[in-house]
Amino acid sequence: MQKFVITGGRRLCGELALQGSKNSSLPIMAAALLCCGDCTLHSCPKLTDVYAAARILNCVGCKCSFEGNTAVINSENIGSTEISEELMREMRSSIIFMGAMLGRAGECTVSVPGGCELGPRPIDMHLAALRKMGVDIRESGGSIICKAPSGRAKGAKISLAFPSVGATENIILCAVTADGETVINNAAREPEICDLCGFLRSCGADISGDGESRIIINGKHQLHGCEYTIMPDRIVCATYLSMVAATKGELILTNACVPETEPFLSVLEQTGCSIYTSEKKIYLRSGSRLRAVRDRIRTMPHPGFPTDAQAVLMAALCVADGTSVFEENIFDCRYRHTDAFVKMGADIQVLGKVAVIKGREKLHGANVEATDLRGGAAMVIAALCAEGSSEISRICHIDRGYEKMEEAVGLFGGDMRRV
Ligand code: EPU
Repeated sequence: MQKFVITGGRRLCGELALQGSKNSSLPIMAAALLCCGDCTLHSCPKLTDVYAAARILNCVGCKCSFEGNTAVINSENIGSTEISEELMREMRSSIIFMGAMLGRAGECTVSVPGGCELGPRPIDMHLAALRKMGVDIRESGGSIICKAPSGRAKGAKISLAFPSVGATENIILCAVTADGETVINNAAREPEICDLCGFLRSCGADISGDGESRIIINGKHQLHGCEYTIMPDRIVCATYLSMVAATKGELILTNACVPETEPFLSVLEQTGCSIYTSEKKIYLRSGSRLRAVRDRIRTMPHPGFPTDAQAVLMAALCVADGTSVFEENIFDCRYRHTDAFVKMGADIQVLGKVAVIKGREKLHGANVEATDLRGGAAMVIAALCAEGSSEISRICHIDRGYEKMEEAVGLFGGDMRRV
């Protein structure tokens, strides 16, 4: 098993072009199942989760190949509507293939995704919505067997109890080829939903309202292939900004999605670092010790502060001047990284959904284990701020979402090796 060996204490400075978004790539790859003809996806990040999605596509009979950061998917001849439990287990977001396969074939068999590192991850909203669209769903021995009786799901009016990203994606994927109109109330407004809809529109889908709480979809009989560029990854952006800010460094990020990153930037700015933005660039300078964030940082659905940026900002605030408070409102179990920070000398108290971080002048190196994707990335940040050497194991979590993080850190002048 590979690990990262990091010697901290250096001021990181540099420039980086951001990778494409993981959380856009996965539903867009699933959406390619709906299209007749080649879908060429540029800026597709080279990540283990993306390769897991490609394996699912190939297993059901699509042809999915990569050249650099371009993926080409052809779904003309699918031979199966069943996704094995083994493939489903590789990544939790495989559940979005349910809506896509239903949209393509009117039926599918997938397996219950189960819990994950972030705690229980139910799919009740996904299933209730698809049932409302006329899909018969049976659960049997860990399998979910779905079938639209007439071969096509029916448009429906769906109101989500919570703006779930995955449920919104599954409904969209099923609705774009369903019979009639689907309206999603209280839909997720995340930028990745807009990216998915942008891709689907390029394939001929009729969707409006994405980015707002009410999305309207008119089903079409067939979609065609297209060429599309995946949006930049706003969470990778938040990660490298937090990292460089914490080491009192300087960073230029190109290929950035500035408006979509604004909910994070407005909080980071409160730490006292200077941030300038232009159309696709973010410039950050942090010459001195960060200040704690005065207001409670509450994770919320977009356009609130993103839960995926909670851990990475917390790592930076472990060495800030003063006390910062986080409130995690999206996932039940998203503070598992805090034990590693404490092992490195951080002062953190967690009580339910609240974490109180009293900034310390310094952290020290330690051997820690990545608990999940963003938590693992946050441990890299803490290790880069710490005095001495750290080892981070189970970095397979980090590779799910960051393209060769050690190379980016090396470019910034950091000492981080994969061994
Ligand atoms: N939920 C339910 N029932 C459902 C669906 C969701 O109770 O049927 C709950 C979840 O358990 C969770 C909350 O609703 O507590 C939010 O879940 P949501 O469905 O919005 O999240 P997701 O689709 O499973 C995506 C991202 C996550 C990101 C969240 C929130 C992808 C592949 N994953 O997950 O990304 O944290 O939205 O923004 O897009 C990551 O990239 O590290 C990551 C975890």
